[in-house]
Amino acid sequence: MTKKVVILGGDGVGPEVADVTADVLRKMSLDLEILEPICGEKAQAELGNFFPDETRKLCDESDAILFGASGTTSGFLLAYLRWGLDNYINIRPIKYYPGCRTPLKDAEGIDFVILREGIEGMYPGREGDISLLTKNLPEYRDILGKSFADYGEGKFAVRIITDSGARRFLKFSCEFTLQRKAAGYKGNLTCVTKSNVLRESDGLFYRIMEEEIKLFPELILEHYYVDDMARRILRFPKDLNVLTTTNMFGDILSDEAAELVGGLGMSASACIGGTVPYFEPVHGAAPDIAGQGIVNPTAMMFSAKMMLDQLGMADAARALDDGIAAVYREGRYLTHDQGGSTSTTKFADAVMKKIG
Ligand code: IPM
Ligand code: MN
Repeated sequence: MTKKVVILGGDGVGPEVADVTADVLRKMSLDLEILEPICGEKAQAELGNFFPDETRKLCDESDAILFGASGTTSGFLLAYLRWGLDNYINIRPIKYYPGCRTPLKDAEGIDFVILREGIEGMYPGREGDISLLTKNLPEYRDILGKSFADYGEGKFAVRIITDSGARRFLKFSCEFTLQRKAAGYKGNLTCVTKSNVLRESDGLFYRIMEEEIKLFPELILEHYYVDDMARRILRFPKDLNVLTTTNMFGDILSDEAAELVGGLGMSASACIGGTVPYFEPVHGAAPDIAGQGIVNPTAMMFSAKMMLDQLGMADAARALDDGIAAVYREGRYLTHDQGGSTSTTKFADAVMKKIG
């Protein structure tokens, strides 16, 4: 059955990477209905609304959404894509493709995945004046024995880990690692927390991890604190298989890890688990290079590849992956972030030629 895909360019470089990726998908003649409704800054300028009702309706009724990037509209669009659609699983692969830029002497063989919880933790920012806590939690004492009033004027941020939210995400993390093991990878799942400091919230996260992994005797659970993990990503990237962590740690570690394998220009993500899955590059709107036709569309193309996989189109996903890999291996058509001077559209042409 034909799958309905909505491509939302969004802001900054978003529409540029979206347009060429839509072209590649169309050229592949897949059983896809591709829609590109207006949204983001353009919709705001023309219709006075970042996310028109008709665009939202198309998204709600689609099988998958491919999203470029959000700039000034980020809060609003991400609120819909992540919380509105309940996409609590964020999958961020870190894989080296020979020919891409890397600071390592030998990056061959780096191939791991960061699973980032998508809707809890420090997101969406819940902040306020300390006085609010002083008023509502007068009895509260921290481990230093201090009340909120003792801290004087300032701001707070709240980090939330729920039983059900952590459990469904960590259960998925186990299933994901098992599937990967069946595909020939190792069976180690590395949980990343800061439970030595965040004893209650990350303590809960890790306790649930230990419970869930019991149902998967084929898997091996590892646990590192996030500061140690940040170091290990640089020191032992080839030993990593699947990392699972809370929202903001996943956000930070995925940017760090991306730098080993080409940077944000190549880093894709899938946000799934909710009513409609969506796929997006890890990079943002990059306003400094927007409109120049030089942005690297690889991250968006890899996001499209993850979308095809999710839609059950594994052969097409592989063909797209192979096409992109071939362009990097050849090294003739590289965008400026990879040390070349190829434009966004020329890069897409090169990928299309490889796909045939
Ligand atoms: C990401 C981005 C977003 C995040 C921003 C734009 C809110 O950095 O997708 O990684 O922090 O989740
Ligand atoms: Mn980020």
